[in-house]
Amino acid sequence: NVLNGARFTLAANEITQLPFDSGAEVAFAGRSNAGKSSALNALTGHNALARTSKTPGRTQLMVVFDLPPLKRDGDEPLVARLVDLPGYGYAKVPESMREHWRREIDAYLKMRRSLRGIVLIVDIRHELKDFDRTMIDFCAATQLPCHVLMTKADKLSRGQASSALEGLRKQFRENKVPGTVQMFSSLTKTGVEEARARVLELLHT
Ligand code: GTP
Ligand code: MG
Repeated sequence: NVLNGARFTLAANEITQLPFDSGAEVAFAGRSNAGKSSALNALTGHNALARTSKTPGRTQLMVVFDLPPLKRDGDEPLVARLVDLPGYGYAKVPESMREHWRREIDAYLKMRRSLRGIVLIVDIRHELKDFDRTMIDFCAATQLPCHVLMTKADKLSRGQASSALEGLRKQFRENKVPGTVQMFSSLTKTGVEEARARVLELLHT
C-alpha cells in the first residue's frame, strides 16, 4: 500500500506556501466534521497522520503529505502528494477566516496544475450541503475527476446506506459529473481498499 508511505510535509496558510507545483496531487475536501481526517488516516493506515477531533473546524490549514515516488512503466518515478484542505462550514470560524479559505481553495482548484482529482468526503447520513455542491459543480465544469467517500456508513443500516449511495450516483449520472461515489467507514474500514485504488488511479491520470 503506497499510501501507507504518506508523510507529513507541511501545513500551509496560503497556496503560495505549497510545494512546487509539479508531479501529481489529490486533494481531500469536505465539510467540517464530515470525517475527513479520519478517512485520511484510514487510507494511509496511520492512526494520527491527520488530526481528528470531536470539535469541528480544527483543521484550518492546507496540510500536505508526501507519498513515496510512484513507479511508472518506462518512465521517471512520479512525485505524488495528498493535500488535506481545511474543513469547511464550521460556524465558530470567524467570517474573515472563512472568506480567506474560500479564496484560497478557489485559487487552488483553478491554478494547481498538479491537481489530478478531488476526494470529497461527505457524511452518508446527510444531504449534500452547499459546499459539497460547489465542489461537485466545479468538478463538472472543469472536468476534474471527483471521488466521493460517503463516510460513517456504519451509522446506517445496510439498506439505508445503499439507497443513499444510489441516490448520489444517480445525481452524478444526471449531471454528468466526472466522478465516482462509494460507501466508506473509517470505523469499520468499509471501502478502504476501493478508495486507495481510486486515489492511486487519480494520481496516475
Ligand atoms: P474537521 O477537520 O474538524 O473539520 O473534521 P473532519 O472532517 O476531519 O472530521 P474527523 O475525522 O475529525 O471526525 C469527526 C468526528 O466523526 C470524530 O468524532 C470521528 O471519530 C467521527 N468519525 C469520523 N469518521 C467516522 C466513521 O466512519 N464512523 C463513525 N462512526 N464516526 C466517524
Ligand atoms: Mg480534520
